[in-house]
Amino acid sequence: MCGIVAIVLKEQTPVAPILKDCLQRLEYRGYDSVGMSTLYKGSIYTKKDKGKIAEVDAKLHFDELPGNIGIAHTRWATHGGATKVNAHPHQSSSNNISVVHNGIIENYLDLRQELEEEYDHTFISECDTEVIPHLIEINLQNGKNQLEKAVKKALKKIRGSYALAILYKNNPNQIILAKKESPLVIGLGTNAVYAASDIPAFLPLTNRVIILEDGEFAVLNYNNVKIYKTENHDTIISRNPQIIDWNSEMAKKGGMPHFMLKEIHEQPKAISNTLRINNFKYSPFIKLLNDAKNIFITAAGTSFHAGLASSYTFNKISKLDNNPIISSEFIDNVGGMIDEESVVLAISQSGETMDTLNAINYAKKKGAKILSITNVMGSSIIRMSDHEIITQAGPEIGVAATKTFLVQLICLSQLSLYLAEMRGLLNSAEIKFLKQNLMNMPRIIEKIIANQEDNIKNIAQHFANKSNFLYLGRGINSITAAEGALKLKEISYIHAESYPAGECKHGPIALIEKDFPVVFIAPPDDTQSLLISNIMEMKARNAKIITVSEENDNKIHRISDAKFIIPSKIPDIFTPIAYIVPLQIFAYFSAVFRGYDPDKPRNLAKTVTVL
Ligand code: M6R
Repeated sequence: MCGIVAIVLKEQTPVAPILKDCLQRLEYRGYDSVGMSTLYKGSIYTKKDKGKIAEVDAKLHFDELPGNIGIAHTRWATHGGATKVNAHPHQSSSNNISVVHNGIIENYLDLRQELEEEYDHTFISECDTEVIPHLIEINLQNGKNQLEKAVKKALKKIRGSYALAILYKNNPNQIILAKKESPLVIGLGTNAVYAASDIPAFLPLTNRVIILEDGEFAVLNYNNVKIYKTENHDTIISRNPQIIDWNSEMAKKGGMPHFMLKEIHEQPKAISNTLRINNFKYSPFIKLLNDAKNIFITAAGTSFHAGLASSYTFNKISKLDNNPIISSEFIDNVGGMIDEESVVLAISQSGETMDTLNAINYAKKKGAKILSITNVMGSSIIRMSDHEIITQAGPEIGVAATKTFLVQLICLSQLSLYLAEMRGLLNSAEIKFLKQNLMNMPRIIEKIIANQEDNIKNIAQHFANKSNFLYLGRGINSITAAEGALKLKEISYIHAESYPAGECKHGPIALIEKDFPVVFIAPPDDTQSLLISNIMEMKARNAKIITVSEENDNKIHRISDAKFIIPSKIPDIFTPIAYIVPLQIFAYFSAVFRGYDPDKPRNLAKTVTVL
């Protein structure tokens, strides 16, 4: 997730200070590097560097860039580290074209190779975006000297997602936009047209907004906007602006009351982006895991839950012997077993959690290989790793991990599948079926949010005055139960405990009295019949039964007092990805009904940098 801004003003009005202001309102989308290009008297001027907007501005003075038309970008690194050369905007070889991009170009390596070998183009960054200005340039050079056509031709070659703003030195009053799967909105001002990744960027300047849709292409002038279908450039799309009635705090959260809810809603997109991670990123993981003498999975909090869930899938489908150890216990527990033939898989959204850093630092000194999965490029854990995979959730601001948990699960599921495939443990039909189902997850999560949010809100209101909850599940969903309980306790301050459901009879059941709320994660898998017995044990003690279960699962619905419904036919190993979502929403509304701010729970920090 990055933030882009593009502005066309009437002649003589300097654009750079306004671009900078707008960009500052998008900094929540990424903040590791920043850049701006303006167009003035037939030349493109660019300033960029790594760092936050204010830091880079203090050094480079963006306001000094001349001209009335420009583009700007605040980055959350995905391809290539947070460095000056990787920062946007990116230019063509001749500096005729400058581009800012939010999204992922999946086939950039192939395109880059083609441009280098066939057109002798030189690349200076590691960023996927750099292929775009080069592709546009070769189309212009091929005699099609019209930017719109050249851009369209370039887009045909690109696989992936993009929100693009393009500046061309021969079009002194025009910016081209294109959108596919990454957000892009246009704001209509007086003698000014703005475009950005999100409405808050320009909301103080105009509230007249046109939302660009997938597969659309727009040409901006200061006094008009033309929108076309990228595939059919002949028909102009006419779309009236909407009037946005948000205050500035709401605007930052995309109109949602809290970042946590916004981030829950961003989960389908975060998953799609993570599913786009190129296979080759997984190759060193597969090789090292396959060859290791012993494998340790280490993480803290929610990331540890992702690690525990992956332990089930590694056991079940990849037959990979593994040992999940919570980071703060790592040295005391398995320290003596680590050697040069060990592999440690570290999971951390921030890449900065001190417990996890400490564990891998220790393992590295003992000669172990370190693999990491994090959401933050350039983080300390990555710097300490032999190989890393960067999940694609974009920045997460709410203290409670939501979208970063889902992308960790996605990434680890992919890894299990690749391992199972490589080890010949699943046949091609089984692999195909599981991969297809993983690809389907964004739509499933979208459906859960759209269909269940109001229902879950009502149930949360009903239970908001309870002081204790028990969360129970079996198999891989004992981990979903653990994560659901963690979400509830950390933001609503309700005491919530989780257990593998079969363990309850060994002690926790003593807590149950009339109306004690017990949440059961109850997919229709092999564990369900035993889970039903556990539900009946609780019912016999007059507990209130809340279930997360499949639509039409009447066996479960009949014995539930309240239910969160999940679409049917999710393969068992992927159920935590879907079944956790209602529990995130439930925790969110529980906090809200109890009068707490879910984004900033007491005593907690987003990143825990102490031991
Ligand atoms: O950044 P990390 O994933 O390493 O963070 C680990 C935990 O601190 C984190 O998951 C914490 O448990 C979250 N607040 C849970 O929502």
